Amino acid sequence: MDRVIIFDTTLRDGEQAPGFSMNTMEKLEMARQLARLQVDVIEAGFPISSDEDFEATREVARQVGTLENAPSICGLSRVGLGDIDRCWEAVKYARKPRIHTFVATSDIHLKYKLRKSRAEVLKAAVDAVRHARGYCEDVEFSPEDASRSDFDYMCDVLSATIEAGARTINIPDTVGYAIPREWGERIARIREKVQGLDKVVLSVHCHNDLGQAVANSLTALMQGARQVECTINGIGERAGNASLEEIVMALRTRKDYFGIDTGVRTEEIFKASRLLSHITGVHVQPNKAIVGENAFAHEAGIHQDGVLKEKLTYEIMRPEDIGRASNKLVLGKHSGRAALTARLKELGFALAGPELDRAFKAFKDLADRKKEVYDEDLMAIATDEVTQTVAPLYELDYLHVISGTGVVPSATVRLKKEGQTFQDSGVGDGPVDAVLAAIDAITGLKGRLQDYALRSATSGKDAIGEVAMKVDFDGTLVSGKGASTDVIEASARAYLSALNRVAQASAQRMKEVGP
Ligand code: KIV
Ligand code: ZN
Repeated sequence: MDRVIIFDTTLRDGEQAPGFSMNTMEKLEMARQLARLQVDVIEAGFPISSDEDFEATREVARQVGTLENAPSICGLSRVGLGDIDRCWEAVKYARKPRIHTFVATSDIHLKYKLRKSRAEVLKAAVDAVRHARGYCEDVEFSPEDASRSDFDYMCDVLSATIEAGARTINIPDTVGYAIPREWGERIARIREKVQGLDKVVLSVHCHNDLGQAVANSLTALMQGARQVECTINGIGERAGNASLEEIVMALRTRKDYFGIDTGVRTEEIFKASRLLSHITGVHVQPNKAIVGENAFAHEAGIHQDGVLKEKLTYEIMRPEDIGRASNKLVLGKHSGRAALTARLKELGFALAGPELDRAFKAFKDLADRKKEVYDEDLMAIATDEVTQTVAPLYELDYLHVISGTGVVPSATVRLKKEGQTFQDSGVGDGPVDAVLAAIDAITGLKGRLQDYALRSATSGKDAIGEVAMKVDFDGTLVSGKGASTDVIEASARAYLSALNRVAQASAQRMKEVGP
């Protein structure tokens, strides 16, 4: 069967959207999951854009790109030769490095953004591809804003970049302007007109401004494109990119129609989606196709009746196909460490050592408070562990909150740090505010809450509450997450996880600078 290359750009296009930024450790965690998902290419970053992005791309190349059967690790670069050098410095450690270089070809971009002539842009594109080919064989070229570019001129640029050595030609609908039928025709015409295209991989990269990104990507595949660029949960600039899970599951579910396969292990999709939400603190809408909370929920009586009689009546995919736990009751308060380890393993989390110790403690605490512990609860605990980017400096030891109508909310908090305990109290305009004030009083650090999101991991009044927040510590914006059946405690944990990241980073800096 025909095979399409799945190029994941969650860590580049996805990450550059506001509210989705990830630090190096978070990108690494996500990249490991993308490798388990068996995508073909991970676009890990845009190395010239910042030192942090350079470092994250390099670490993904070093730590994930060197694994057995690792995906190709790609870095994005403008056509400047210095940009390409920097990109290569970051991706060169991977077994299969790729340089992806791009320049806009639409007259709008040439006139207002680049202030260059068509001839100048064509030359820059060719020079860039040649320069990149000096480093590696796997070079991709994209004419940015392709859907609004003059067709003949864009084809000239593509023919010239293939001649210069590009191995993949990617056609981006940068502003999400294309409509499926028109886009399909454009792809077909590109295949006819561009010289040498039959010897390279044709790719598409569609944005979702008009809600057409997945439809446009699938139409392009029907017209012969064999690489598709996409992101987990469809995150990306503005309205996002084409969603990986929707494309992959459409190809799988409608194999009869498309006759195209991917190498993706679909059972890893749900975990990838949840991990990304956990890392970024941004959850998908309940009705999101494939990974949304309601994607497999049958509410209407007539549907439930049909599903109970025969799943095929209303189900075109099985939740297990994407690795979605069926929310069954698994463990209880008497379950031991071995049972937890085995169940976590089935859910795809191989925890060991201190990570497992902490997860076990969290599980026991939860089982004490909650009658029923579901797979989703365990996933919340485990994801919390695997995204714990630094060993916690401060740990929550005790929390007491007084709050109510007509009462000034106050909190007493005790924290553990390096074997010692510290206690203080605070008041605020709500219980969460009071808890954070008490923590600030202990640590001497003052955080300003920039964003706060609370959701429940499972249904029911005793569900785990997951809190994600963004906190500004003296100009440094960090994210933190926490989970507990008590939402105030979850908030305290989320704040501490953010605080630990800054505290740890400054301790590290002190060590590097020396006494
Ligand atoms: O949307 C776009 O044009 C891009 C390119 C860099 C491929 O992200
Ligand atoms: Zn894009």
